[in-house]
Amino acid sequence: MSGQDGAQRKPIRLIAAACNNMGIGKDGRLPWSIPSEFKFFLDKITAVSKPGKKNLLVWGRYTWFSCPEGVLPLANTLHVILTKKLRSPPELADYICEDFDEAIRLASQPPLSDLIETIWVIGGTEVYREAMEHPWCDLIYLTDIMADFDCDVFFPDFDRNIYRKQSRFPGVPHEIQEENGIKFQFQVFKKMC
Ligand SMILES: NC(=O)c1ccc[n+]([C@@H]2O[C@H](COP(=O)([O-])OP(=O)(O)OC[C@H]3O[C@@H](n4cnc5c(N)ncnc54)[C@H](OP(=O)(O)O)[C@@H]3O)[C@@H](O)[C@H]2O)c1
Repeated sequence: MSGQDGAQRKPIRLIAAACNNMGIGKDGRLPWSIPSEFKFFLDKITAVSKPGKKNLLVWGRYTWFSCPEGVLPLANTLHVILTKKLRSPPELADYICEDFDEAIRLASQPPLSDLIETIWVIGGTEVYREAMEHPWCDLIYLTDIMADFDCDVFFPDFDRNIYRKQSRFPGVPHEIQEENGIKFQFQVFKKMC
């Protein structure tokens, strides 16, 4: 679908994992180590429906620099970092943008519009907050880490009447999982239009 400005609408999806107090980070890192949860995250953000397509990953600057060593580069992805401070993309990143709307324009207008399939918002807090309010945002993947962790960064509140928890969702196991003694459950919240 093209808008008046020639923008091709793209699905915007958030993906995060939050513990009992909705914490997502501590001291610039994840507060837990759950490799199978991290693999789920990587599988989702790198999945494309056709060879040659790519997803645009939108990162806050701190989240980018908190990415564990060896994770990047990732298949089928381009990376944009939101920052007002950096003047050029750091190694392994593709673009920088000064705000969220600029990143959405990057994905939805030429030259990238025919290449990009999905815009995945990787965090942190302010990036999630802006993304969930965008009209193109349709899904929030939010793993429930069923444990208490000390956190200093939190997933933003959202209206669970607007984003409704799905009891089942394609490609998402619904059973409670456990690894390293931590129980967790994948969840998907879908926007009701
Ligand atoms: N559990 C999870 O799923 C998950 C996911 C992501 C991150 N995390 C954790 O969360 C923490 C990092 O998140 P955070 O919220 O502290 O920081 P962040 O959002 O990753 O980075 C903040 C910086 O990003 C830039 N930025 C953010 N929003 C922007 C916007 N709308 N427009 C322009 N620039 C924007 C600014 O950079 P400048 O200062 O350069 O302008 C800002 O100072 C880490 O602990 C990380 O491990 C956890």
